[in-house]
Amino acid sequence: MEITHIAVLFFLFTTVLLYARRRRASPSAYCPHPHTVLGNTVEFIRNRGRFFDWYTDMLRAAPSNTIEAWGPFGASHAVTTADPAAVDHLLRAKFANYNRGAQFRAAQSDLIGDGIFGADGRLWSLQRKLASYAFSSRSLRRFTQDVLAVHLGRRLLPFLEAAALSGEAVDLQETLRRFAFDNICHVAFGVESSTFLEWGDPQHQALFKAFDTAVEISFMRTLTPSTPVRKLTKLLNVGKSRRLREAIGVIDNHAMSVIEAKEATQRNNNQAEGDPDLLSRMEKLWSENFLEFLPERWLSDDGEFVAVDAAQYPVFHAGPRACPGKEMAYLQMKTVAAAVLRRFTLNVQAPTASMESPPAYEMTGGMKILGGLHVQLKIRD
Ligand code: HEM
Repeated sequence: MEITHIAVLFFLFTTVLLYARRRRASPSAYCPHPHTVLGNTVEFIRNRGRFFDWYTDMLRAAPSNTIEAWGPFGASHAVTTADPAAVDHLLRAKFANYNRGAQFRAAQSDLIGDGIFGADGRLWSLQRKLASYAFSSRSLRRFTQDVLAVHLGRRLLPFLEAAALSGEAVDLQETLRRFAFDNICHVAFGVESSTFLEWGDPQHQALFKAFDTAVEISFMRTLTPSTPVRKLTKLLNVGKSRRLREAIGVIDNHAMSVIEAKEATQRNNNQAEGDPDLLSRMEKLWSENFLEFLPERWLSDDGEFVAVDAAQYPVFHAGPRACPGKEMAYLQMKTVAAAVLRRFTLNVQAPTASMESPPAYEMTGGMKILGGLHVQLKIRD
């Protein structure tokens, strides 16, 4: 038999096999335009720059707002839903039936290992108990508030004031990302350090950059199937695998140096111490003005805050795995917003975005505005 015949037969066999496998996986699932061999890969590549919009379009068009997507050669398979009843089923009612899964763990394991974000079963529940205990402690709450006050008073506000006086525009997105990072490192490591320009410490800057790189590469790994090329780059320690390994090395070294410094201090003192946004774009759930920026949709006629069920708006997740840092995050957001808006007026520099022409975004876990958010500040009278 000629080599071309063998290739054609192999191709047909693979096609039939993949087709049968897909039918068996979920016979009734809605799967927009999948190619039998390539799945949704071509569309994925074409829509890389507008990934969330592409997914939203597909989810909106799906009869049950739930879709199935495939990687090439059946290498990966994902079901995505924007139906609150399905979210409730997955995150709350039948929580025990669903776990992170091998693909997520493989993509994220270099960065998060067996930590709370990636663990399942008993390993997760043990860490969750510890986290819940820590997050509910009054001393942690007080410490978080103190840390916030320190970083606001010593860095963020003076930084914004200097920008207002010089008249130079500031990238508010980058500024707040750095502020949040400094805060969380201070809470997590118990050491004050900064990524802010002249107040910045080079070692901490390197940590910020390493963390960004590690999250970005791990996030993309979660979205794309693990191919033999990825396995080879890991083995040979080249390309993105090498960048990831180096970034994780920086994070590990920093963590070790903090632990060693703490141990030394304790010895000296001779003491011993004990991702969702897709649901917000569904007309069915948010009425016909679902694409408009309307903060008042959260307020009743009397101006009272109206909460929405977490299955409909799961920005902090829902159920037993809901974000334990939610209150801390709200405290930070409200404190920063109040402190900044009381002192400054902010004018966005870039052409005003609208729902017809929203700002482009970067494909990262945190969904950043492409090019940043440049604002000009003025000190209020
Ligand atoms: C605006 C800020 C925040 C948002 C939108 C957010 C959102 C989320 C979401 C969606 C999850 C679930 C992730 C998943 O299971 O795939 C999560 C989990 C988690 N978050 Fe947050 N979070 C925020 C801030 C924080 C902060 C400040 C902390 C801690 C200081 C924190 C700690 C955690 C932890 C430990 C988990 C893992 C919980 C578990 O798996 O049991 N988060 N967060």
